[in-house]
Amino acid sequence: MYYLTTAIDYTNGSPHIGHAYEKILSDILVRYQKLKGVETFFLTGVDQHGQKVQQSAEKEGIHPATYAAKNTKKFKKLWEQVGLDYDGWAETTDDRHKACVGKILTQLKEKGQLYKKSHQGFYSVRQEQFLTDRDRNEKGEFGAEWGEVVELSEENWYFKLSDHAQWLQDYLGATPDCIYPSFRQQEVINSLEKMHKTDLCISRPKERLFWGIELPFDAEYVTYVWFDALINYLSFAGYLAEPDSDLPDFNEIWERPVHVIGKDILVPAHAIYWMAMLHALGFKDEQMPQFVVHGFWNAKGEKMSKSIGNIIDPKELAETYGVDALRYYLARDIHTGKDSDFIPDRFISIFQTELANDLGNLCNRTLNMTVRFCEEKTLNTPSDYTLAELDQQLQASLIKTKEEYIKHMDIYQVSLALETINKHVKLCNSYAEANQPWALAKDEAHKAQLHNCLYHIIESLAQIALLLSPVLPEACGKILQQLGAAELANTTLADISWGLIQQPHTVNKPKPIFPRIQLPETQEQA
Ligand code: ME8
Ligand code: MG
Repeated sequence: MYYLTTAIDYTNGSPHIGHAYEKILSDILVRYQKLKGVETFFLTGVDQHGQKVQQSAEKEGIHPATYAAKNTKKFKKLWEQVGLDYDGWAETTDDRHKACVGKILTQLKEKGQLYKKSHQGFYSVRQEQFLTDRDRNEKGEFGAEWGEVVELSEENWYFKLSDHAQWLQDYLGATPDCIYPSFRQQEVINSLEKMHKTDLCISRPKERLFWGIELPFDAEYVTYVWFDALINYLSFAGYLAEPDSDLPDFNEIWERPVHVIGKDILVPAHAIYWMAMLHALGFKDEQMPQFVVHGFWNAKGEKMSKSIGNIIDPKELAETYGVDALRYYLARDIHTGKDSDFIPDRFISIFQTELANDLGNLCNRTLNMTVRFCEEKTLNTPSDYTLAELDQQLQASLIKTKEEYIKHMDIYQVSLALETINKHVKLCNSYAEANQPWALAKDEAHKAQLHNCLYHIIESLAQIALLLSPVLPEACGKILQQLGAAELANTTLADISWGLIQQPHTVNKPKPIFPRIQLPETQEQA
C-alpha cells in the first residue's frame, strides 16, 4: 500500500497558495501511483489546536472550537473545488484522534519515556513562550518585540528525545533515501548534535493554553501542539483504534509512508521529534517514513505573510481562471524541493501556451479534421500502409516521452514530466504542419496518408491524456471522451504503448477543453 500524507494545515487563517500547492502536489503523486496500478491511501486534513488558534479565536471573541470549525470548512471546500481525491480526512479535534494521542502518551509514560521537571527561565508574556539565549538581540537583551519578559519557574512534562539521537544518526547514515531532496537529509544529520543533549517539552499548563488535548495522567496540562498534530499520521491510519472504529486497518496501510511537507517543518518537527516518537513507540527501521520536502511559493521574491498583505488566494485563482489553470501552474512552475516565485503573468501565459495553444488546439483541430474529412468520423488506415520517416519519428518520440515522464515522476519532479509531455505535443503540432492533412483531404489519392496522419496524432493524444491525468484528471477524462476512447481511462502505465486506439476508430465531435483565458485587450497586447 502506498500511504501518502500531507502536512495538516493550521486553521488559524484561510488556505493560501502554499497550502494549495502542497495538497495538489500530493494529489498528483497519489494519482500517479494509481496510474501505475498501485493501491493507495491519501490522508490530508487540518491542525486545529494550539496557541495561535486560541489567540485568533480570542480576538474574534469566539470559542476556539467555533473558530477552528469555521476555517476547517474553508479548507475542505477548497480541496473539493481543486479536485483532491483523498481517502482520509484528519481533524485533530476528532475524538478518535484524541483517544489515540492519549493512548500514545500513556504508553510512552509506561515505557519511561516521559518525565516531569521544573524549568526556570525567561518567559515572554506577550508571546506566551519561554525564551532562550538565541532570542536575545545583539545587545544581549530581549528586544521590545517580546513585550514584558519575566523570570518564571514552571513544571512540565518532557519526552526523552536524547534517548533516540544515536539511533537516528545511525538510521539516517544507513538510509540515504529517507529524505528527498538529499541535501535536506544532510541538513538533518548536521542538526543532530543538539538532539543528543536536549529533551522535548511536551506539555503546556492549562492556565496559559487550554486549547489542546489533556494529558491522560495529569489534568493540569494539555499536549504541546506538535505532539498532537504529528500523531494524525497514525491515528487516522487506524493506529491503536478501537476494533469497531471505521478507521482503516493500520497494518494494511502503514508500510513505509510518504510524508509530503514543506521545508520549514522538517527540522526539528518531522525529522527529529516525529522520528524519535515513532522509534520510542517501537517502530522498526523499515517502517520509518520517507519525506518529500517541497520548497516555498514566494510573492515577488518576498515571503508571503499576513502582515505584508501579499498572500495569494488559491480560491480566487480557481474561480477566475479555472481549476485546470491552477493545478497546472502549481505543478509546472516549480521544481520539487526548490522555491518559486508566484508570477501572475506566468500563471496566465503558461495556460495560454501549453494548454490552450499547444494541447488544446492540437486536440481540437485534429478531431475537427477527423470529423470533417473522414467518413463516419472514422479513422481507418489500410493495414499495409508504409510508414514515412516523420511517422517513425513521432512514434519514437512518444516512447521516449513516456520513459522520461516516468523517470521524472518517480523522483517527484512533476514539472519536468510536464515539460516532456509538452515537447511531444509540440512535435505533434509540427507533424501536422508537415503533413498538411487539410491539403491531403482534397485528393482522394491521399486518403491513406490522411488517415495515417490523423491516427498518429489521435493515438498520441490518447497516451498523453493518460500521462497527464494525475495533474489534470477532469480535463484528461474529457479528452479521452472526445477521442472516443473513454474506456481507456483505467489503462495502467505499463499498458500505455503504441496501438491503444485500434482502427477502425470513431471519434466524437470536439469541444474546446482549454478555452483561452480572455483578457482585457490592453493586457492581451502587453
Ligand atoms: O506547519 N509555500 O501548518 P501550516 C509552500 N500545522 N508551502 C507552504 C508555504 C508556502 N509559502 N507556507 C506554508 C503547519 N507551506 C503545521 C503542520 S503537520 C503534522 C503539522 C506549507 O499551515 C508548510 O511547509 O503553517 C506546511 O507543509 C504546510 O504548508 C502547512 O503549513
Ligand atoms: Mg507554518
